[in-house]
Amino acid sequence: MTTPPPLSRSGCPMLHGASFATSPKAVYEQLRLQGPVGWAEIAPDVHALVVTQHRAAVTLLNDTRTYSKDSRLWAALANGQVPQDSPLLGMMAWRPSVLYTDEEEHARLRRAMDDCIARIDPHQLREITRRSALTLIGRFIGQGHADLMSAFADVVPMLVFAELLGCPQEMTGRMVRACQDLISAGPQAVQGAADFAGLLFELIQLRRQHPGQDLTTWMINHAAALNDNEALNQLFCAVGAGIIPVAACTAWTLHLLLQDDDYAGKVAAGTLTVRRALERALWERPPMANFSVHYARVNTHLQGAPIPANVPVLISHAAANTDPTLSRGLDYTSRAHLAWSAGPHRCPAISQATTIVQTAVETILDQLWDMALTDENPDPPLRHGPFHQCPQTMHVTFRRKSPDRIPATALAGGTA
Ligand code: HEM
Repeated sequence: MTTPPPLSRSGCPMLHGASFATSPKAVYEQLRLQGPVGWAEIAPDVHALVVTQHRAAVTLLNDTRTYSKDSRLWAALANGQVPQDSPLLGMMAWRPSVLYTDEEEHARLRRAMDDCIARIDPHQLREITRRSALTLIGRFIGQGHADLMSAFADVVPMLVFAELLGCPQEMTGRMVRACQDLISAGPQAVQGAADFAGLLFELIQLRRQHPGQDLTTWMINHAAALNDNEALNQLFCAVGAGIIPVAACTAWTLHLLLQDDDYAGKVAAGTLTVRRALERALWERPPMANFSVHYARVNTHLQGAPIPANVPVLISHAAANTDPTLSRGLDYTSRAHLAWSAGPHRCPAISQATTIVQTAVETILDQLWDMALTDENPDPPLRHGPFHQCPQTMHVTFRRKSPDRIPATALAGGTA
């Protein structure tokens, strides 16, 4: 029998640290023992309620009268009980963007977000993703081995976003470096966030003078008349909400295909599509494992569990998707999973995110032959932190495809 993960000093399951990174499923089991909602430690001495039951999650996500997304309601933060440099704040501190607003204000910002995202041409998105993927593959194809997290999955969405935002070439490298620091969850994360915000500010000034066909121009010129601070935070939110989940989803889809011979064989034979593998990855490994943070406006109950006002309530998309009480009839073609969340804050970029992941996975499968994972652990250790479910590394070996089939531009490497 394996030893259960340690509890925090306050006796709660820990949704952070090394034991959560190696045994997340065991921590979700500990949480389920408390009922549909349980207390967890999400950073040293910082606590939150976590919803693990699918039905309770859907109820909360649709109950906008009782629950708010405004993190200024978080009592422990307002009382100074959360350290100012806490790694949680990058994702949980209030900003004037869709993610932290309710009702009319959310509707106004969400309309701007939806309209701008809808203007992304799907064919162009596929083309940008394929080009970005080929650029990265060109850098390691000669080596016969690579860490697909740092060399591929992490960087594809950064290159794609730099282009969607209308970044001039000389800014792309700076933007990728800022994003790499931002997602590091290490001490560089705070500096990465500041650098990234600075770059977005520069970009907004540039696009005010020289409009283009890009997300930045569309956001600043939207009829919602956003001020610079709102436009910056909306763009920050789109990139912040987009890059790690896309990287994680790319990695888990590939992991599924590389680890499961039966699955990979069916994809190669054309009886199963990468898209189906992606849907299964979303059920089993939702990239935003625990997020969709809400705050009850008043003391309340959820499926019988007491919910005090003004404490963060996280939805465990990961635990809800694997809720043992979920109907056994649900298979991977069902979209009842909560990987995209539900209710008014459901991800607005589902089709765009799917296009990026699918294109990236199809491109790398097409370019590298006989790809194999060097670590056969079916549950590789995750990056630290409560929010994302993303492997730390994904080392593979492969055979080089004959060079005459790889575009010269890709072999020359990119500009980032
Ligand atoms: C596989 C990739 C992705 C997954 C699994 C994912 C998942 C999610 C989830 C679970 C939420 C709800 C968060 C919350 O309520 O706190 C969300 C919201 C959001 N996502 Fe995605 N996302 C992905 C990709 C993207 C991309 C590529 C973009 C941008 C183009 C994006 C933009 C957003 C935005 C702006 C929100 C906030 C919506 C709101 O609050 O109204 N996401 N996403």
